[in-house]
Amino acid sequence: MTLNPEPGNAITHAADSLARAYQSDLRQPALIRERILRQVVDLGLASGRAIDVGCGDGSTTASLAAVVPERPVLGVDISAAMIDAATANFGDLADFEVGTFEQMPVEPSSAALITALNMWHLVVDREGALREASRVLKSGGLLAIVGALREDLAIQTIHRLFPAFHRISYGRHQSRAQLTAMAELNGLRPILFETVDFEVPLGLPSQVVELVAEKPFFDMRLMTDADFDAGFDAFRHDLSELPEDEAVTTPSRCSVVVFSVGEA
Ligand SMILES: C[S@@+](CC[C@H](N)C(=O)[O-])C[C@H]1O[C@@H](n2cnc3c(N)ncnc32)[C@H](O)[C@@H]1O
Repeated sequence: MTLNPEPGNAITHAADSLARAYQSDLRQPALIRERILRQVVDLGLASGRAIDVGCGDGSTTASLAAVVPERPVLGVDISAAMIDAATANFGDLADFEVGTFEQMPVEPSSAALITALNMWHLVVDREGALREASRVLKSGGLLAIVGALREDLAIQTIHRLFPAFHRISYGRHQSRAQLTAMAELNGLRPILFETVDFEVPLGLPSQVVELVAEKPFFDMRLMTDADFDAGFDAFRHDLSELPEDEAVTTPSRCSVVVFSVGEA
């Protein structure tokens, strides 16, 4: 088995540094997120707990808890700083523990559902993560991977206006075919594939510049400073051409891919 990502690697470092300022709604507005999770749960769940892996500041775990109110919910994240934030924000709704997708702090065959929102592109050992999902899920259990796949990136204004950001994201995000082939090789059967379109409000152009200057997305923190600075200068210039008093809303799209473990 490939080793767990070590604490202190680039992803953990980026997550630790982002934890206090993390904004889940930049990925999907909360209402969209909850609608997606409801749709997943409506597929039918085995008995057992629900796990939100890569839970970040706990916003997605809270949405999950809202759609499975009768079940224990656990949020897991590689970053201790994210787990601290999640516990402070939503410790009354769910338990939170440090762990990784590749190695979760749970018993075999104990979960009905694993959700992974907006984090699959950051997983270092994806095959290890899929094997771990098979270990942790009960027969009939579901794994829901939600977030941008490679095909979903080009629509977003930030990706269009910031080509260096698009380039690094393109390299990290799997295509639909890559994800489903890898999952099938690791014993997971795709049962739902959907794309969801929505709008993300970003604020006035000057606020968008301030927002992006803070590198609110992991892929921005994983670029070299030189690449970020060059891309950001051009991005700022493009935004300065927009009317200053009109709020910017970016179209966005994510994929919802649900896999089942065990017999059909
Ligand atoms: C973009 S955030 C998503 C957080 C939350 N799910 C959301 O949608 O708002 C990605 C999260 O995944 C975590 N992460 C990255 N790689 C991980 C791994 N291999 N195992 C567990 N968590 C991981 C990061 O620490 C970060 O908190």
